[in-house]
Amino acid sequence: MTHVLVTGGAGYVGSHACKRLAAAGYTPVAYDNLSSGHRWAVQWGPLEEGEVGDGARLEAVLGEFQPVAVMHFAGLIQVAESVVKPALYYRSNVADTLTLLDAMLAHDVKRIVFSSSAAVYGQPDLVPIDEQSRKAPINPYGTSKRLIEQILDDFGPAYGLRHVSLRYFNAAGADPDGQIGEGHDPETHLIPIILQAASGQRGSLDIYGTDYPTADGTAVRDYVHVCDLADAHLAALEYLMDGGASVCLNLGTGAGYSVREVIAAAEEICGRPIPVQEKPRRAGDPPALVAAADRVQDVLGWRPARSDLRQIVETAWRWHQRTQ
Ligand SMILES: NC(=O)c1ccc[n+]([C@@H]2O[C@H](COP(=O)([O-])OP(=O)(O)OC[C@H]3O[C@@H](n4cnc5c(N)ncnc54)[C@H](O)[C@@H]3O)[C@@H](O)[C@H]2O)c1
Repeated sequence: MTHVLVTGGAGYVGSHACKRLAAAGYTPVAYDNLSSGHRWAVQWGPLEEGEVGDGARLEAVLGEFQPVAVMHFAGLIQVAESVVKPALYYRSNVADTLTLLDAMLAHDVKRIVFSSSAAVYGQPDLVPIDEQSRKAPINPYGTSKRLIEQILDDFGPAYGLRHVSLRYFNAAGADPDGQIGEGHDPETHLIPIILQAASGQRGSLDIYGTDYPTADGTAVRDYVHVCDLADAHLAALEYLMDGGASVCLNLGTGAGYSVREVIAAAEEICGRPIPVQEKPRRAGDPPALVAAADRVQDVLGWRPARSDLRQIVETAWRWHQRTQ
């Protein structure tokens, strides 16, 4: 059996990657402290409970399974929380990743696919954003991702570790088979919040900013189906297995949808109106974040296959209804 250690494998994106790895013949070993992940999401390999910051536990798991690579999803993900608790974010995301890398090197595991983020770019000068754009994160969450990318770059020449860092734009949607989906608490992502408003779990949806310089005045984002993200992780793993050099890649579609467009798609799919409240812009929210997505296609041969807005919202809605 060829094992891959998946930190954060009980979480939203990590569990979809585990399902994809298993379909490709790998055995994913989910390593997770279940702080925001779910036991029910681990269905395609063992669950090893543990902290990424616990080097001894990591070494025991790496020794037992001898994985060919690590996919590193685990981390804290809330931008607003990172602003008020930067120490927590730098410790959990950056310092704990150093512990993980030490344990990997001790067990001669030298391939890692890392979940980075479009947050490394901060407020972009130009849209679409390519990988060479200025990296100027505007919150500790984004800075923690940028620091990890830098650490991974430095570990290449020094220790022979190779990485693919995937800068996701907005992960969205759910497994079309309905086995897993998004389950964040608190939920901060637009589509599940819209679906909560559609099903009456929240009174209304707040639209932050209706005066942006976009076609309809609301903010535009690049949504990638979580199963497309999972495919990209598999492609990145195989790229590293084939000896590919370290690289940071955008993971987006190159197409953006406005908040109002997402709401309109959801109203059609859910078959009901979604109550909204218009609010002022939030500090730090750029008008548009859209990836230049050609490099990932050139390097990994990856193209989004399910990321049109309809498929994203339909799969998310199906999952949302199952969990009611
Ligand atoms: N969801 C998105 O739109 C998005 C966008 C950009 C980047 N990312 C990155 O992708 C990764 C996965 O995001 P997600 O949406 O699946 O988040 P998630 O919260 O659903 O998953 C994170 C998982 O990591 C686990 N975890 C957290 N800290 C841990 C620790 N110290 N030790 C062990 N396990 C720990 C949690 O229990 C959870 O299962 C994160 O690194 C996130 O920053 C996500």
